[in-house]
Amino acid sequence: MTDSENDQQPTTQVETARKAFEQEFERFARFTGSSSGFPGLDLDQAVAEQRALAEVRTRHLGKKSALAASKKLIGRVPAEQRAAFGKFVQETEGFVSSALDEAEENLKNFIESERTSRESVDITLPGRRPRLGHRHPITLVRERIEDIFVSLGYAIEDGREIETDFYNFDALNIPDNHPARAWQDTFYTRDGFALRSQTSTVQIHAMQRRGVPVRMIAPGRVFRRDTPDPTHNPMFFQVEGLCVDRGISMAHLKGTVAEFLKRMFGPDTVTRFRPSYFPFTEPSAEFDFSCFKCNGKGCRICKNSGWIELGGSGMVHPNVLRTVGVDPEEFSGFAFGFGIDRMCALMYTLDDIRLLFENDVRFLEQFS
Ligand code: DAH
Repeated sequence: MTDSENDQQPTTQVETARKAFEQEFERFARFTGSSSGFPGLDLDQAVAEQRALAEVRTRHLGKKSALAASKKLIGRVPAEQRAAFGKFVQETEGFVSSALDEAEENLKNFIESERTSRESVDITLPGRRPRLGHRHPITLVRERIEDIFVSLGYAIEDGREIETDFYNFDALNIPDNHPARAWQDTFYTRDGFALRSQTSTVQIHAMQRRGVPVRMIAPGRVFRRDTPDPTHNPMFFQVEGLCVDRGISMAHLKGTVAEFLKRMFGPDTVTRFRPSYFPFTEPSAEFDFSCFKCNGKGCRICKNSGWIELGGSGMVHPNVLRTVGVDPEEFSGFAFGFGIDRMCALMYTLDDIRLLFENDVRFLEQFS
């Protein structure tokens, strides 16, 4: 074997290594150069290419690569050729690694920019609105009632739903054996409490707490031992009104109720009072208003009468005033009460008030 044959071998080895690299690198060639756009390449593919490229690097520049083996030969080539061979190995290594560097760099930039644009926020997109709920139809009607009375100078009282017999009956001039207890039968607890059967109980609390003069309304839940049907429910809503001052007369009651109904149902609304009886008022009257749909001509809503019955009212009974320590010689007042659900059913022409308590959103959504 000649010297030159001996020299030739390591050089050939390096050349073979370079060729093998070039062959394998061919498919990555498009990642070299200054272009940063790679048509048809998506992020996942780019990441896969990046991984493949790392393997190519290990194969051709790693400890077990042909080039690494060639490096070990440098010391064994004849001294006069050593420098040239060493330079050749170095150049080849430089060529391989800079080709890899360039492709890796370009791929890395491409992946980064793809990721950024994927994660970037389009600030021109409209925001996602949280889906807002809306008020229950009874709440809508209650708030309208409250607005009107607040504008007339009334305070809003929040009564309690569980009461003693005293507040629900006795203080309202309904003694133990009074027949009014029967039609207002309610639910009792074992220890002598009752679910209030009317908001009239708040009259007593309000006068005890605020004293007189007083002007207040008290909307709230009431309970009666009723079997549910299209016009009855064992739980329903009422609004109580109370005005006590010096010199209050029936005229004030009529004026107040008439004004309220005009604001609620329109300026042409006519109110009428019919004599009636309630234990806690004397005299007592029920009140009706002209039908808001047909203006009193007669229609389905008012059952062709032209009138809609709404509630009870009257001049506060002297016994009620005395119970809370108010002198009926000095003070007088009026009170009234009516059902909110009934009003709600009328306004929205519901033929079954139970719909209001079933919590079916398909029904409730119609009243936003
Ligand atoms: N509390 C009565 C009821 O539930 C309604 C009522 C009538 C309230 C006359 C009053 C009133 O304040 O004066 O049927």
